Amino acid sequence: MSIRLAPSILSANFAALGDDIRAVEEAGAHLLHVDVMDGHFVPNITIGPPVLRSIKKVTRLPLDVHLMISDPDKYIPAFVDAGAAILTVHAEATVHLDRTLNFIRSHNVGVGVSINPATPVAAVEQVLGLVDMLLIMSVNPGFGGQEFIPYTLDKIRQARALITEKGHRCVIEVDGGVNMDTMQSVVKAGAQVIVAGSAIFHAVDPARKVKEMLEMAATLGYDASYV
Ligand code: DX5
Ligand code: ZN
Repeated sequence: MSIRLAPSILSANFAALGDDIRAVEEAGAHLLHVDVMDGHFVPNITIGPPVLRSIKKVTRLPLDVHLMISDPDKYIPAFVDAGAAILTVHAEATVHLDRTLNFIRSHNVGVGVSINPATPVAAVEQVLGLVDMLLIMSVNPGFGGQEFIPYTLDKIRQARALITEKGHRCVIEVDGGVNMDTMQSVVKAGAQVIVAGSAIFHAVDPARKVKEMLEMAATLGYDASYV
């Protein structure tokens, strides 16, 4: 498996979202990362199921839905119905994480769990066998365009070692501050799915940036034994 790129539409032009999505899809992006924020779990508000449903109609890319919301169980069915391919919840946002992850699984979509920068990998160690993806936040969630937090690299390495040691199948996704400068260390640390928002959509030519990031990923000596 090679590195997969998931452009985050948070930094796209919401008034011309279809065009921006088409551009990154044609350029070879693998997933579309959709950030859902509720103004409670994180200090920002974005979009919900109706917008996801509209996005689903204009792209064939799997929709990688990152729920930064409190009480996610309440909304999981609506996001599945709207077209999510993978639903990721935050470990910090639900009291009964095991139950929430099994609830997502029962809807036959991909299951993801995410941890904030300050949350240790140990917080999700016991549930790595239940998920398809571990999303390690490399900024505090809530906004695009923030700077990558370097200590999160250690967490990527720890998670990689743990997943390999236990023989889990889950992939590691990294989200926040990833650009052409930080991408190399993120991939070397063990990430397989790269989220990039402002690096792509604030570029003069987002499609070209997707191609550049994919070319860089291909040269990073990715260890195919990870998955
Ligand atoms: C932040 C979101 C990210 C965001 C990343 O809370 O989860 O997906 O779009 O944006 P950049 O790549 O600009 O840091
Ligand atoms: Zn995100």
